[in-house]
Amino acid sequence: MNKNIPIFITGTDTGIGKTFITALLTACLMDKGYTVGVQKWISTGDSEVCQDMQFVHSVALDHWHEGKGRTPLRLFDQDCYRLSFPSSPHLAAEIDGIQIDKHVIERGFARARDNCNILLVEGVGGVMVPLLRRYLLIDLMARLRIPTLVVARSGLGTLNHTLLTLSVLRDRKIPVIGVILNSQAEMDKEFEDKRIVEDNRLIISDIGHVRVFGPVKRVKHPLEALEYVEPVASMIASI
Ligand SMILES: Nc1ncnc2c1ncn2[C@@H]1O[C@H](COP(=O)(O)OP(=O)(O)O)[C@@H](O)[C@H]1O
Ligand SMILES: [Mg+2]
Repeated sequence: MNKNIPIFITGTDTGIGKTFITALLTACLMDKGYTVGVQKWISTGDSEVCQDMQFVHSVALDHWHEGKGRTPLRLFDQDCYRLSFPSSPHLAAEIDGIQIDKHVIERGFARARDNCNILLVEGVGGVMVPLLRRYLLIDLMARLRIPTLVVARSGLGTLNHTLLTLSVLRDRKIPVIGVILNSQAEMDKEFEDKRIVEDNRLIISDIGHVRVFGPVKRVKHPLEALEYVEPVASMIASI
């Protein structure tokens, strides 16, 4: 069981569902008996607590109260940079008078990875977000080579963003474990136009040479979407 597997969860954009998918993956992996760790290296627009990790924690607790996923959850929030200004990390850090140090992140990451079976690291925005004026998140990802899952929207507008993200990950030799499509549709529409979503899935898997999961439906409560994320959790468990 002592796997110490890290998974990086990035997205094509901010607000795309990285935290949401991280929370569901946490619940699914806890069901499988793993001690799951969750880490977010940098959060912005936060000061006291890391909102994204709180969201993951609350979903895991709800799941736990349903009598499932009763393995330990470890939130490695002591290792995060929490920045108050809601912007790209480089600017938020400058405004808070902090310089983000990749060695601090690397040490925090290694400690977290070694203290759980599976560590889910949530990204910040997309992969080309600057941590310093001349240092991007992808530069750090390329150093650490963590197997990466890309969260992308399922409907119109996803092809360009997703294929660009996959292309830069490949260029930097970062292992990609898959793409998960997440719906941005309004609740009453359930899914975007099915023809577009199905075609997006085909194009992304064909041109991007990657396994495509989902689409995850728009739901009222996160745990209602558990079934869509289960195949990703099974794939992670098989690594
Ligand atoms: N499939 C979904 N169904 C319902 N709400 C969702 C879904 N995906 C994301 N959300 C919600 O959309 C918002 C943005 O998602 P979030 O996971 O915070 O994005 P990110 O972490 O990429 O910035 C959050 O309020 C989240 O709970
Ligand atoms: Mg988030």
